[in-house]
Amino acid sequence: MKEETEITPTPRLHVVDHPLVQHKLTQMRREETPSERFRQLLTETSLLLTYEITRELALHPVEIRTPLTTMSAPELVDDPVVVSILRAGNGLLDGVLRVIPGARVGFVGLYRDHDTLEAVEYYCKFPPMDGRAVIVVDPMLATGNSATAALDRVKADGPGAIRFLCLLAAPEGVAALHAAHPDVDIWTGAVDECLNEVGYIMPGLGDAGDRIYGTT
Ligand code: URA
Repeated sequence: MKEETEITPTPRLHVVDHPLVQHKLTQMRREETPSERFRQLLTETSLLLTYEITRELALHPVEIRTPLTTMSAPELVDDPVVVSILRAGNGLLDGVLRVIPGARVGFVGLYRDHDTLEAVEYYCKFPPMDGRAVIVVDPMLATGNSATAALDRVKADGPGAIRFLCLLAAPEGVAALHAAHPDVDIWTGAVDECLNEVGYIMPGLGDAGDRIYGTT
């Protein structure tokens, strides 16, 4: 009998180097950028990142009538499900939903234990996944612990292909997420140098939740 070889998917990292994404990211990194402007820039950037991450969504032909004739035209097979990792993920959600208004939205609430940096879940509510494509959003991929825990939860609900969308990633987070979920591609605006001793991305932009909501 022929032996079956298991094919391990090769995870891909997509750095969106579009000049507008890079310019807006620089404005977000600036210490002096106030929350109001930060939120605006994050929404604008998430529109651009969503355009890239949805590039490979499945289409099927449908028969339509234009004012002049009938034709077969492409339409999305399904709107994807978007899952926001609370609370900073909500900063990306507005822009994502402007591009995919029909998406259904799930939330997973995770906080970082300050001592262990492990993700602790405090909330989870998902729409039916029904094999749909899922985009999990969180602005910062730092240790990868929250992203890994969120993806574990999503996978338990029977999704289709999963993509991870962030604004900034650390090499450590990319490696951890690829190791835990090799079938999940990552889209990011940039990969920074490293994590500092308390798990912040360097040079980064600080605490994304604080920058979005004006907390300290
Ligand atoms: N979460 C943040 O908000 N910022 C970081 O640098 C790392 C994790």
